[in-house]
Amino acid sequence: MSRLPFPFPVVAWDAGRVVVLDQTRLPDRIVFLTCADVPALCDAIVRLAVRGAPAIGVAAAYGLALAAHRAATAGLTADATLAAVGAARRLLASTRPTAVNLFWALRRVAARADTMVAAGVGPTDLAAGLLAEARGIHEEDIDMCRRLGAAGAALLPDCATVLTHCNAGGLATGGYGTALGVLYAAQQTGKTLRVFADETRPLLQGARLTAWELAERGLEVTVLCEGAAGSLLQSGAIDMVITGADRIAANGDTANKVGTYPLAVLADRHGVPFYVAAPASTFDLATPDGGGIAIELRDAEEVLGFGGVHTAPAGVGAWNPAFDVTPAELVTAFITERGVLRPPFSASLATFGPG
Ligand code: MRU
Repeated sequence: MSRLPFPFPVVAWDAGRVVVLDQTRLPDRIVFLTCADVPALCDAIVRLAVRGAPAIGVAAAYGLALAAHRAATAGLTADATLAAVGAARRLLASTRPTAVNLFWALRRVAARADTMVAAGVGPTDLAAGLLAEARGIHEEDIDMCRRLGAAGAALLPDCATVLTHCNAGGLATGGYGTALGVLYAAQQTGKTLRVFADETRPLLQGARLTAWELAERGLEVTVLCEGAAGSLLQSGAIDMVITGADRIAANGDTANKVGTYPLAVLADRHGVPFYVAAPASTFDLATPDGGGIAIELRDAEEVLGFGGVHTAPAGVGAWNPAFDVTPAELVTAFITERGVLRPPFSASLATFGPG
């Protein structure tokens, strides 16, 4: 029995505040964080209370609406409200560098602000307009995920066994999910599925979040250490791998949670199709290839310990990239809301992207 409505209430606007489902507390507790200002929202994004590329984009869009709301409520002029939105944009843009959805959403809401102020709109209407834009981005994300889910579901045979990495589900998006959205759409058509979820070191998005939400949705899920994925693929048990993405370059090189690249190599080694499910907002056609994607480096302590307990010997350092880049040649196809895009990606992706 699900404890939350679906699509999941990952981010919401509530009476002049941004409310996020605190993913650091899952699966044990369902706790909502209320962000009354932009620094509080930035902190929630940096701590991964709200995480996953599309969800970060949606949260950031509401963040700009929040900045405008606070400025307008404080009695600032339209120009000063616009300046507050610009300052909030810079803060939000500095939270996490890899997910392109963040920068796309900020650009879109900021462009709406510029247009409205140029048209002579006052601060209160400006704030209302930015909230409408953020809500639009949120609704569109759910809609895109539903559509990409339906496109991907057609690829899954009945009784398919799927391996996934990290969490590219409802929790990582506006509420429905990309890689897991494909599974939900297949489930809706009556297909029976079996899902293996990589634990996903060091923060266990697979073991904590993917396992939680699949179980919530009534799907059978088995967690494994990502180091066990090679043996699992070698056993022949897996029909396909499906992951999400944080940024897809114009040639199809794909940044996603660290560990995705080795998984793609293993899938290739064992002849298992490797699909990446992502909406248009994750495609970055301005970046020619994966070499241009900034990879977030996170605190060493995430690797050197767990749950506040330091487990490595004192004085030992750690390298903690949050993402890696899977070369396009290892991707079988991209599952998008505009259908399944196959190689050569330089051609199939050429007209794709958020515009
Ligand atoms: O560090 P995270 O938890 O934000 O990383 C998330 C991922 O890598 C997801 O796979 C990706 O953002 C796609 S979410 C639909």
